[in-house]
Amino acid sequence: MEKRRLGNSNLMVSVLGMGCWQYGGGTYWGDQSQNDVNTIVGEALDLGINYFDTAEVYNNGESEKSLGIALKNKREQAIIGTKFNPAQAYPSSIKKACENSLKRLQTDYIDLYMLHWPIHSHSIRHFTDDEEIINTSPNIQLAFETLNQLRKEGKIRYIGISNHGINQMQEVRSTNIPFLCNELPYNLFSRGIEKDILPNCEENNVGVIGYMPLQQGLLTGKYKNLDEVKPMQARSRHFHYLRGEGTRHREKGAEEEITRALPEIQDIANELGVHIIELALAWTISDQRISTVVAGSRTKKHLDLNVQAAYLKLDDKIIQRLNEITKPILDKLGSNPDYYETRVNSRIF
Ligand SMILES: NC(=O)c1ccc[n+]([C@@H]2O[C@H](COP(=O)([O-])OP(=O)(O)OC[C@H]3O[C@@H](n4cnc5c(N)ncnc54)[C@H](OP(=O)(O)O)[C@@H]3O)[C@@H](O)[C@H]2O)c1
Repeated sequence: MEKRRLGNSNLMVSVLGMGCWQYGGGTYWGDQSQNDVNTIVGEALDLGINYFDTAEVYNNGESEKSLGIALKNKREQAIIGTKFNPAQAYPSSIKKACENSLKRLQTDYIDLYMLHWPIHSHSIRHFTDDEEIINTSPNIQLAFETLNQLRKEGKIRYIGISNHGINQMQEVRSTNIPFLCNELPYNLFSRGIEKDILPNCEENNVGVIGYMPLQQGLLTGKYKNLDEVKPMQARSRHFHYLRGEGTRHREKGAEEEITRALPEIQDIANELGVHIIELALAWTISDQRISTVVAGSRTKKHLDLNVQAAYLKLDDKIIQRLNEITKPILDKLGSNPDYYETRVNSRIF
């Protein structure tokens, strides 16, 4: 499978990566057996996937734990990316979070350690058992110095960030601690990063990891209509705010536009004789600025199909048509890449 350089490092990641949020089971995605995870991880490695994306928050650490079990005796074949919570971006908490992730992953190094969301007022949480952090916002400089220290100690190989906009990347850059990549939402229905963030990443040699490449199942053809999407997965701005459970935004969504686009995307898939999933994933990786996309593949059948996308080369005309078909969704949702918050409250800027 094609490998691409992540940022300016010598880390070569497979264009299709593995999203591990589902591992360990949990309320968001439902049950996931360890046997299946062991099989898929082994199979993924055999098929050339080397990047595995998890986070401490996924299923309360169970995703990391499950990945750690599945990678036992295969650790060196994998590049593990995991993330810590911005609410823990205080020196002692970062160190603790890193130790905990290392333990759960059963490894003594993390390849890519990412700040899951930017540090700003939304991330403040009040701890009472640590004098250093009561009622204060985490300090970005201190946080990145701590990460750099973990890097020097060999506990992490590279520092990364996720869900950062241009200003937030600049803020991180001003710490003078290099970061390798920015993990961002990217798929045919979530193209907000195209306008400013992607060009800025390219200009500054920041690698991009695309997440949610199938828009949590919307681009898989598994829903006959949007009403079938579970409330948990319908809280993004693609849906009317009344549709989702725990919705943060107050927008009316782009359901009409998505409903119109889906059969047109399917038509192109039919013309090419491929599955809509292959087409959707291939579109995301057709952009060379994207180093890898992490799809949540949790059965062998899903994985086998998703992997085919890595071998599907789309010509410019097809890419152009897909861009045009999905433009009304882009126009409706705009360039705010926070798909859970209205622009004025966007956590990515
Ligand atoms: N950095 C961040 O803030 C962030 C945020 C979200 C996600 N992520 C990363 O991105 C990864 C992927 O995102 P995601 O899982 O939310 O969304 P996704 O990959 O866009 O979509 C997952 C959905 O697609 C379905 N699916 C996948 N392959 C399929 C196939 N071949 N056939 C039919 N259905 C298929 C899954 O079905 P089943 O439910 O049947 O398995 C699931 O419903 C996560 O695992 C995580 O690593 C990062």
